[in-house]
Amino acid sequence: MIKTPYYLIDKAALLRNMEKIAYVREHSGAKALLALKCFATWSVFDLMSQYMDGTTSSSLNEVKLGKLKFAGETHAYSVAYADDEIAEVLAHSDKIIFNSIGQLERFADESAAHVRGLRLNPGVSSSAFLIADPSRPFSRLGEWDADKVSLVLDQISGFMIHNNCENNDFSLFDQMLTEIENKFGSLLEQPQINWVSLGGGIHFTGDGYPLDLFCARLKAFSERYGVQLYLEPGEASITMTTSLEVTVLDTLYNGKQLAIVDSSIEAHMLDLLIYRESAKMAPNNGEHEYMVCGKSCLAGDIFGEFKFEQPLKVGDRLSFIDAAGYTMVKKNWFNGVKMPAIAIRQLDGSVELVKEFSFDDFVNSLS
Ligand SMILES: Cc1ncc(COP(=O)(O)O)c(C=O)c1O
Repeated sequence: MIKTPYYLIDKAALLRNMEKIAYVREHSGAKALLALKCFATWSVFDLMSQYMDGTTSSSLNEVKLGKLKFAGETHAYSVAYADDEIAEVLAHSDKIIFNSIGQLERFADESAAHVRGLRLNPGVSSSAFLIADPSRPFSRLGEWDADKVSLVLDQISGFMIHNNCENNDFSLFDQMLTEIENKFGSLLEQPQINWVSLGGGIHFTGDGYPLDLFCARLKAFSERYGVQLYLEPGEASITMTTSLEVTVLDTLYNGKQLAIVDSSIEAHMLDLLIYRESAKMAPNNGEHEYMVCGKSCLAGDIFGEFKFEQPLKVGDRLSFIDAAGYTMVKKNWFNGVKMPAIAIRQLDGSVELVKEFSFDDFVNSLS
């Protein structure tokens, strides 16, 4: 028995997403790169790299991880590179995407022999949260002005545009891509531009997504501009593949039934707290309702309210579903709460513990 808390990655579920990604690659001609910012648990990269073309990154550390652990292409992107990073970034990547003309020009000499791209910002996105909206007012994420960009076209061969955010609506994707074409078509059709990455945020592996319409739209775009398209699925790659397994440590009644578990939303599912979202459990339709809380000192360390078949008692095992994206990469040592281990359910059903964290890891996380 693996001791809780632990993240449990289910390879069979991962395979289902991978097969959809492979379908899109095959029918659209687009390449798919895993966005490491969302998910960087490299123990399953052997499986993922059979279905994806490589990785994209947001820092020197991620680009090195991608190069080291994931076969295929390695794209480097960062909101801003520092002088002492650029040589290593170039050494570990096949393409470098600069966020601004300023960065492109600053590193023009060092990167002259590299495949280079620039991030464009179309000024529209599908984000429901200002904090995550790449097209928010005054956004620093990419260049907005096609005229300015046209002056540096001789230094680049491609663009990256990330403006979809948790977008499961194909027609919205389609409409925003048309807006991109209207705004930046004159840049895209230049002959020296031969690749475009449309970033992540398109939830095309979800149930019911019209994959064939999506593929046809991607294909038409890439034929129209003569470009190799890339997608950068983070969440879409790992959605519904992983749970956070926890145990009830205490129950109490303070006007509501409360259960405290051996984990913490702040430490182990931070993304949910940032976006004020509840964790998910399935099934969630019994008669006994509990507010399930974490064990950190934060008063609002609450995973959510869930309905159970039976009253909860100390020692019960609970499982939060959909716990992979922006979760494992953000786990932290707040309160010194025990760091969840990482386990993998293999395709044959056996569960393998691949990582445990110790007191030494806690000590070594600071000095
Ligand atoms: C440039 C870029 N690419 C890819 C992604 C991955 O997005 P998602 O995990 O929503 O697919 C992000 C997310 O912020 C991003 O900023």
